[in-house]
Amino acid sequence: MRTMAFLQVPAVLLILFAVAKTAAEQVVHTDVAIIGGGASGAHAAFRLQEDFGKSVVLIEKQSILGGHVDTYFDQQTGRIHDYGVQVYFPYEDALDFFARLNLTLLPNPPRAANVARFVEFSTGKELADFRPLDSQRGTEAVRKFLALATDKGYDKMTQPGYWNLPPGDSIPEDLLLPIGELAKKYSIEPMLAAMYPSTGGGVGSRGDFNNVMTLTLMKSFPVAWIRAFLNDIEKFHVEGGNQRLFDTIAKRLGDSVFYDAVVTAAQRNETGAYLTVEKRNGQKTIVVAKKLLLAVQPTLENLAPFDLNQQERSLFSKAKYGRSHTGIISHSKLPNATTLRNMPAAAVQNPASPFLNTPFVLSISHYGGTSKLYSVGASGSDYGAFNEEEAQATVRSALEKMSEAGTLPNLEGEPLRVVAWSDHEVGGLGVSAGDMRDGKRSTWFTGGGVAADFTPILWKFNDDLLPRMVEKM
Ligand SMILES: Cc1cc2nc3c(=O)[nH]c(=O)nc-3n(C[C@H](O)[C@H](O)[C@H](O)COP(=O)(O)OP(=O)(O)OC[C@H]3O[C@@H](n4cnc5c(N)ncnc54)[C@H](O)[C@@H]3O)c2cc1C
Ligand SMILES: *[C@@H]1O[C@H](CO)[C@@H](O)[C@H](O)[C@H]1NC(C)=O
Ligand SMILES: *[C@@H]1O[C@H](CO)[C@@H](O)[C@H](O)[C@H]1NC(C)=O
Ligand SMILES: *[C@@H]1O[C@H](CO)[C@@H](O)[C@H](O)[C@H]1NC(C)=O
Repeated sequence: MRTMAFLQVPAVLLILFAVAKTAAEQVVHTDVAIIGGGASGAHAAFRLQEDFGKSVVLIEKQSILGGHVDTYFDQQTGRIHDYGVQVYFPYEDALDFFARLNLTLLPNPPRAANVARFVEFSTGKELADFRPLDSQRGTEAVRKFLALATDKGYDKMTQPGYWNLPPGDSIPEDLLLPIGELAKKYSIEPMLAAMYPSTGGGVGSRGDFNNVMTLTLMKSFPVAWIRAFLNDIEKFHVEGGNQRLFDTIAKRLGDSVFYDAVVTAAQRNETGAYLTVEKRNGQKTIVVAKKLLLAVQPTLENLAPFDLNQQERSLFSKAKYGRSHTGIISHSKLPNATTLRNMPAAAVQNPASPFLNTPFVLSISHYGGTSKLYSVGASGSDYGAFNEEEAQATVRSALEKMSEAGTLPNLEGEPLRVVAWSDHEVGGLGVSAGDMRDGKRSTWFTGGGVAADFTPILWKFNDDLLPRMVEKM
């Protein structure tokens, strides 16, 4: 069971007790070593230290905490743009955490009142005949899905983690259906087009959004999020920008955070975890921890240093993730007060199917008013490829095509200005219905936990997990 949970959960726990080993490197003993300082890892580190009186070492490969959070301050307009994680919504009492950190949450203002223009970015052609699916129909279909999920208890089975999912063959068949089939079964097909943009364009679905298993979709489109999506509950951001959340946690954790650091080797056994931690500058530290909490995506690459056994290795290689990027760009030929939304030409005939082939730029959207800035998101299929350079090249190519096709004016050789950029690396829907059915199904599910991938839900997942973890210390 534990091993299976380890498989799926973004924040994963391994129960181990440490025996120190002398080495030439500096040796640090700690109660819990946490790998990854995003929403899950930073929250867990803070709570373990403040609420459970545990010593922690938080190992983060970047130079700041925060993971998918990215905040940019626009000097020209004085506006703050969160261009990674943008919204926090109420889920149980999760948002109380902000008050503990003395941070103020403000309601998110309505999105800039942009005009939408639909353009096939791969050809640059504007789809003048495209009529988007009536947004009312999309919303109604999503609302029906919400009713279905809550009536049948799928929300409780999947939130905050998948702890309460029935074992193996008792998993409701609906959850194992590709969402395309589920939508057909309940005549709620318009929900797919409505959900698509909020999943970053089905990151990880490899252009095959319809084939994402419902259970997997509910990780990126969980029931708690649907309420916020439908505006049944309010959405918030941190006053001063969402990065302040993590800067506040960082201050409180002080030297317990190892920045620019990764684990390069590890030994795990029943008594502890013995980690070699290497900083970007080459400095090595041995961290001896009673327990290890993994708060990174469970890819083979991330887990390689943790001496996986054969079973773990084969299970981890199952998941297929995508890679996404978000950024802020500027170019004087981009239109004001406009969102350029990438739409395949085939969607003119079938607006219920706005799904794009990877890699793609989902949209380019003006920040409104006198801003010279545009937000942009791009997705690729394979997390091993589609790096920052390729993602930006995809944006550049879209602009050039649009200019050639007359959708945008002549660019006059003006280069695209990348004002801020964030590689969100591994993420997304990842696993097709076929993969999940393939042999390892009960293993995948009986272990329990895939946490729904939204910050407030991840925090409640931690609130469940941490007491179990310290109880055994
Ligand atoms: C573009 C985008 C927008 C989103 N918007 C929202 C939103 O508006 N609201 C919302 O609630 N959720 C949003 N999400 C979902 C988001 O994934 C979760 O809210 C949350 O940030 C995930 O936290 P995490 O700790 O699981 O992972 P992450 O935030 O990814 O944190 C993982 C951390 O581990 C570090 N790391 C990775 N590998 C290693 C390694 N090998 N060693 C050491 N450190 C490592 C990373 O640098 C990162 O800091 C968004 C996601 C994306 C990609
Ligand atoms: C929040 O403010 C209170 C009162 O000033 C202070 O005691 C507490 O340490 C602050 N919390 C954090 C996390 O900074
Ligand atoms: C666990 O691993 C540590 C570090 O490698 C080692 O010193 C210790 O002897 C091991 N304990 C057991 C019970 O194998
Ligand atoms: C956008 O508006 C600004 C004024 O806010 C103007 O200077 C600029 O030329 C406009 N850009 C385009 C492409 O129309």
